[in-house]
Amino acid sequence: MEALKGVRILDMTHVQAGPTCSQLLAWMGADVIKFEPPQGDATRGQLRDVPNADSLYFTMLNCNKRSITVNMKTAEGKQIFVDLLKVCDIIMENFGPGVLDRFGFTWEKIHEINPRIVMGSIKGFGSSGPYAEFKAYENVAQAMGGAMSTTGVPDGPPYVTGAQIGDSGTGLHLAIGLLAALRQRDQTGEGQYVEVAMMDGVMNLCRVKWRDHQRLWHGGLSEYSVPTHKGMGAAPRAGNDSGGGQLGNAIHCKPGGPNDYIYVVVQEAVWDALAKRMGAELDMPELATDPKFATIGERRANQAHMWQLIGEFALKYTKREFMQILNELDVPCGPIMSTQDLFEDEHVKLRGMVVELDHPQRGKWYNVGMPIKLSASPAKIERSPTLGEHTDEVLQQVLGYDTARVEQLKASGAFSLPPKRVKS
Ligand SMILES: CC(C)(COP(=O)(O)OP(=O)(O)OC[C@H]1O[C@@H](n2cnc3c(N)ncnc32)[C@H](O)[C@@H]1OP(=O)(O)O)[C@@H](O)C(=O)NCCC(=O)NCCS
Repeated sequence: MEALKGVRILDMTHVQAGPTCSQLLAWMGADVIKFEPPQGDATRGQLRDVPNADSLYFTMLNCNKRSITVNMKTAEGKQIFVDLLKVCDIIMENFGPGVLDRFGFTWEKIHEINPRIVMGSIKGFGSSGPYAEFKAYENVAQAMGGAMSTTGVPDGPPYVTGAQIGDSGTGLHLAIGLLAALRQRDQTGEGQYVEVAMMDGVMNLCRVKWRDHQRLWHGGLSEYSVPTHKGMGAAPRAGNDSGGGQLGNAIHCKPGGPNDYIYVVVQEAVWDALAKRMGAELDMPELATDPKFATIGERRANQAHMWQLIGEFALKYTKREFMQILNELDVPCGPIMSTQDLFEDEHVKLRGMVVELDHPQRGKWYNVGMPIKLSASPAKIERSPTLGEHTDEVLQQVLGYDTARVEQLKASGAFSLPPKRVKS
């Protein structure tokens, strides 16, 4: 049995942050009804690679869902929404501030209609505070949650990271909140409002930078290769420094291409073995006993020299060869994997992290697999729905509407008229 079998979700989310969450819940067995405006989630048409086909942006975030299109700017559309609210366990949305309120559905109203329903809401900055009225996208959240100011090198500009910590990271936070609220609902019979702000989610993921911020009140950060000192204020950008108790850095390997790097953590326990191996290859037999590198404190103080030696050692090997050498010495390390490397990687394939799917508009394509493995409830990944593919099915199966009623609603424009952008 799927873990979330029997949980029905009214999913009004769009773009990435919300759909990440509902896709994960669908992969755990929830019945996710993606409730779209008649023109669909905007990402269906964004960054298209195949003409007239749903984009990968959409297909990769909306698997295992059913799609229903409803025009919420009609009285009939609102009635369908209310009917669905009554038979769902969760409603979730990540509209811009105030959109659902403008439809006439505040949390209080939704709770009144179905006191058992749990509501999940993602906003850029939450529903309170001076930023509450602002919209947000991934990089806005990375900028405002502390990620950008701490990513890059001190004398360069701040950088965004490739990991979608603002969008997908927030979706993960919401999934945790929804499952907790559902558990409470099952005990008390009362739903509750679960809010995750993207800025808050990014701050949560930047927790160690806050650790460093406060450490700077008392002294410099010895593990950083960039200069730091007591009272310097903000935690600095520190390139590829490990940011943890162990020293780490990205080391260039043969043949010197843009992804021919390996990340190496010089864990305290492995220095002796690493230094002996390096010493033998670099004709430095004294390296393992060199007092400059004897303890982690000394290695921190002399890390520029240490990284230079490890770099010389690495240059003779490809990142894969170097990984093998380091693995034999039990040195924690990881080659920098390009998307092409990942696509071809045996481990990734064996873990089911690249999943081949078919789609009526685009043919064969690949999704990233389910990262959470439940032993009694393995995910079965199915393609994303086409726009409105399940409108009739949901109306009839879930709401019990008869064919005549569905036809009458269709004629009234409940599923098809483009919504008017009228703000009250
Ligand atoms: C992502 C975001 C910036 C997009 O902004 P946007 O394209 O202007 O979209 P909004 O969510 O503000 O508005 C959606 C519009 O579609 C309309 N709409 C949505 N579903 C509808 C439906 N079923 N029927 C009719 N209209 C519908 C809404 O009424 C709204 O129109 P309005 O402004 O006239 O009220 C914004 O949704 C946002 O800030 N969301 C919260 C943070 C977030 O999740 N960011 C994205 C991370 S990937």
